Amino acid sequence: MTHELASTAAALVADGKGILAADETVPTLTKRFDALGIRSTEETRRAYREMLFTSKGAAEFISGVIMYDETIRQESSDGTPFAEVLSSQGIFPGIKVDTGAKPLAGSPDEKVTEGLDGLRDRLSEYRSMGARFAKWRAVIRIADALPSVACVSANAHALGRYAALCQEQDLVPIVEPEVLMDGSHTIERCEEVTGAVLHAVFNALFEQRVVLESMLLKPNMVIAGEKCPRAASVEEVAVATLRCLRRHVPVAVPGIVFLSGGQDQLAATAHLNAINRLPGPKPWKITFSYGRALQDPAMEAWQGREETLRMGQEALYRRAHCNGAACLGKYTAEMEAA
Ligand code: 13P
Repeated sequence: MTHELASTAAALVADGKGILAADETVPTLTKRFDALGIRSTEETRRAYREMLFTSKGAAEFISGVIMYDETIRQESSDGTPFAEVLSSQGIFPGIKVDTGAKPLAGSPDEKVTEGLDGLRDRLSEYRSMGARFAKWRAVIRIADALPSVACVSANAHALGRYAALCQEQDLVPIVEPEVLMDGSHTIERCEEVTGAVLHAVFNALFEQRVVLESMLLKPNMVIAGEKCPRAASVEEVAVATLRCLRRHVPVAVPGIVFLSGGQDQLAATAHLNAINRLPGPKPWKITFSYGRALQDPAMEAWQGREETLRMGQEALYRRAHCNGAACLGKYTAEMEAA
């Protein structure tokens, strides 16, 4: 079983491939639809996911898709369950299993991710529905006196408990501690906090006896806060991110799959490419598990209409193609026009 999990983890980070995060909860997807004037109903959300999951050729660059509970229970218009729509294209179905970031008691400006209660049974059900990997996202906010030790340790502990349960239930855990881009902090401060968070997370994974070969890490890139007066260059982000990962991520982890975290879609691709082009040891595969940076142009082109479905799929294909090249360090700006 351990061997099979390790090979699934390795396949999720196969050369030139990454993950499509399409696991927005109903409120989050509704917010994104609202911004574009698309009505959010169970059927429009289903149609949107079908548009993404049947995008021709995207499987060349997409190894896995993270779904949400509503989505894994839905079907394509010909009645095929979405997990099967994906696996028939050689894409691993994945599932978000946390129940959201909730206010942390005693620290009202911070959050702790919940969902451990009943998790074993939910994982077992998702595995029986075809899921092969799972995701749990912790969020860490930077401010003058934040993050608190309480926030980092509570979130790290939950990630460790979640990952151990996933491996017990035959699912590859994606461990996602996201240090948010919100705020005016510098890139240096982001590096310091990201390093401390990764240290706490790997300590918790060790304590919970998580097999590192059978998991993936989904971190933020090391980047200045969105309100920081000095934005870092692509090169600076790449250097700081790789340095931080080298210091804190054991080589036994097969892959690092970045979140995009609100970065502009072109920046997310350029940063990934620059990290992969840096010299020196990179003992893990370094690729993407983007949500917004893959989906935004597709959602905008689709607009909720049948007539523009093809345009939405082409937009997803383009971003997947460019990011697939970026995880090999082979992305060029000309690819955007192709
Ligand atoms: P973004 O790439 O939009 O940050 O989403 C990735 C994700 O899965 C967040 O949990």
